[in-house]
Amino acid sequence: MKKLTLSILVSAVLFSSTIAVAQNKEQLVQESRQTVKAFGKTLKGELKAAIKKGGPANGIEVCNTKAMKITEAVSKEHGVQLSRTSLKTRNDKNAPTEWQKKVLEDFEARKAKGESPKKMEYSEIVEVNGKKQFRYMKAIGTGQVCLNCHGEKVLPAVEAKLSALYPNDKARGYHKGDIRGAFVLIRDVQ
Ligand code: HEC
Repeated sequence: MKKLTLSILVSAVLFSSTIAVAQNKEQLVQESRQTVKAFGKTLKGELKAAIKKGGPANGIEVCNTKAMKITEAVSKEHGVQLSRTSLKTRNDKNAPTEWQKKVLEDFEARKAKGESPKKMEYSEIVEVNGKKQFRYMKAIGTGQVCLNCHGEKVLPAVEAKLSALYPNDKARGYHKGDIRGAFVLIRDVQ
C-alpha cells in the first residue's frame, strides 16, 4: 500500500513538472513567434524602403550591413540569440549548424507534403553543457520582392554587387513560395 501511494505521488510530481515545462515551452514559443515576427517586419521594411529609394542594388546595402545590426539590436532587446540561416546561403556566416540543417531539411519535407511555409515552425528544449537551451526556428518564405536578389535572373547592377561581395553565393534561383531559409532564436532557460 505504501509503495503504491509513493508511486502515485512520484508520478503526480512527474506529471505536474512535465506540465510546467510544457506550459513554459508554449510560452517561450509564443514569445519567440512575436520576436521573430517583429524582426522580420523590421528587416523587410528597411529592405523595401531602400529598394524604393535606389533600386534593388541599393537594397543590398541593407542586407549586407544593416541586417546584422538589426539582428544584434533585436537580440539584445529580447535577451535572445537571433540569426537567419538557409540550406543555400549567400553569406557563409549564416550556414546552418547540424541541428539547424536537420530542421531546414524537415521544413522542405513538410513543404513537399503540401504544408505552407507561412506557419512552419519548430521548437525544442535541449541540454547543452549541462544548461537548458530553448531553440526555435521559423521558416521564411520567398516573396516577389526577394526575387530581385534571390531569383533566377537579377539586374546587372545587382549581379555585379552580389558577385563582388559574395563570391560563394548559393542563394540564387529561388521561386515565389519556396522556403528561402529560416529565422533561428536561441535562449537559455532554467
Ligand atoms: C536587395 C537584395 C536582396 C533582396 C531583395 C533580398 N535579399 Fe536576402 N540577402 C541579400 C544579401 C546581400 C544577403 C546576405 C546577408 C549577409 O551578408 O548576412 C541576404 C541573405 C538572406 C538570408 C540569410 C541566409 C543567407 O542566404 O545568407 C535570408 C534568409 C534571406 N536573405 C531572405 C530573404 C527574403 C525572404 C527576402 C524577401 C523578403 C530577401 N532575402 C530579399 C540580399 C537580398
